[in-house]
Amino acid sequence: MIDIEEYGIHEGISEIILTTISPGGVPNAAPMGLHRKDGRLFARIYNSKTLDNILSKPIAAANIVDDPVLFVQSALSDIESERFELVDSFPLLKDTLGWIIFDCTCKKGENISVVELSPVKGKITARKLQPINRGFNAVIEAAIHATRYVVLKEQKYFDCIEYYNSIVKKCGGEREKNAMRLLYEFIGIQK
Ligand SMILES: Cc1cc2nc3c(=O)[nH]c(=O)nc-3n(C[C@H](O)[C@H](O)[C@H](O)COP(=O)(O)O)c2cc1C
Repeated sequence: MIDIEEYGIHEGISEIILTTISPGGVPNAAPMGLHRKDGRLFARIYNSKTLDNILSKPIAAANIVDDPVLFVQSALSDIESERFELVDSFPLLKDTLGWIIFDCTCKKGENISVVELSPVKGKITARKLQPINRGFNAVIEAAIHATRYVVLKEQKYFDCIEYYNSIVKKCGGEREKNAMRLLYEFIGIQK
């Protein structure tokens, strides 16, 4: 029995990186919001590789990650296979601080599907004191806007990215600044 509180998954939405596996056995990673509400755990997933994978094999793992570069890479590109490790034949990220594998039940929608998550197995691999860094949080916000910008190319998303970048410049360290450099590269903007 998994105590979800132990993993720092409280009420509200926790941003994790969800790993899944394709029918051909190719691992995939993408940031997703893990919702906890009234005793339920679920994700709201737009049409994507993650959703296709869950529909064909209804298992997913929440990887609890504190690396801003990994959030940007997995949001906007495919993660190299060397960054995964297999646990019970299921792909997890090597850099995870902790993970939970879930059985998934999917309520398919036209654009967005609700995936109910039942914890099966988990492990905490590292416990770290993590004072809040506005630069880190700003990378996460910028990455969300970037995933919309690459699809819709609307100026409002780019303006948000620029705003969050100003916070990264002020409050972030080298890893947050590297993550933003990568983000601009992925959206095709030279800085
Ligand atoms: C912090 C963060 C949270 C995200 N949360 C979600 C989410 O809850 N649902 C969703 O469909 N996409 C979410 N996204 C966007 C996906 O990660 C993005 O569309 C990704 O490219 C999907 O990859 P895939 O096609 O490999 O599954 C989020 C992105 C970020 C950066």
